[in-house]
Amino acid sequence: MKRLGILLSGRGSNFEAIADSVEAGRIPASIAVVLSNRPEARGLETARRRGLNAVSIPSKGLDREVYDRLVVAELRKHEVDLVCLAGFMRLLSAYFVREFPLRILNIHPSLLPAFPGLDAQHQALEHGVKISGCTVHFVDEYLDHGPIVVQTPVPVLDGDTDETLSLRILKEEHRIYTEAINVVLSAGWRIEGRRVVTAR
Ligand code: GRF
Repeated sequence: MKRLGILLSGRGSNFEAIADSVEAGRIPASIAVVLSNRPEARGLETARRRGLNAVSIPSKGLDREVYDRLVVAELRKHEVDLVCLAGFMRLLSAYFVREFPLRILNIHPSLLPAFPGLDAQHQALEHGVKISGCTVHFVDEYLDHGPIVVQTPVPVLDGDTDETLSLRILKEEHRIYTEAINVVLSAGWRIEGRRVVTAR
């Protein structure tokens, strides 16, 4: 059974969706540890309530790689096979990425490469796109950049605000994160250039 490590900084709704999928047997893995750079993250509290290992490693004042070494050590301690970023608001160092090659996933609330970075839903509304969506991708050392595992479109409606669009996208995030984890845990995928190709 593979072991997941979840990294989060806040609310943790994607973490909860993953935990629900694990509990329901929709993901053949266990959650080994939930780790946050913010001690006050709601997701940590939820993890504790669910009886999971919840660890806080504050990042304040630490050099990026010094911090990442602490996080990687914690993930190793819990024998994590796959790292899932779920609203983890930090860029990973090259060191971290090298420690888990093609073993770190992130979810982003847009159809990448459109609207990377903060407030992707707001960016989409401002730009006036008619379709946005969400993306689960492998993490490299660049922001919202690595090979794409799963993407799904979400319509932008005329009356949308940041909140209504975010909510519609979030529903899909919760669905595709489970799907992407299953793809990566299965044996049937390979990388061709930037393309994640799943065997049929
Ligand atoms: C999500 O919109 C995710 O795509 C982005 O940050 C948000 C985290 O939400 N990376 P939650 O903490 O999972 O509820």
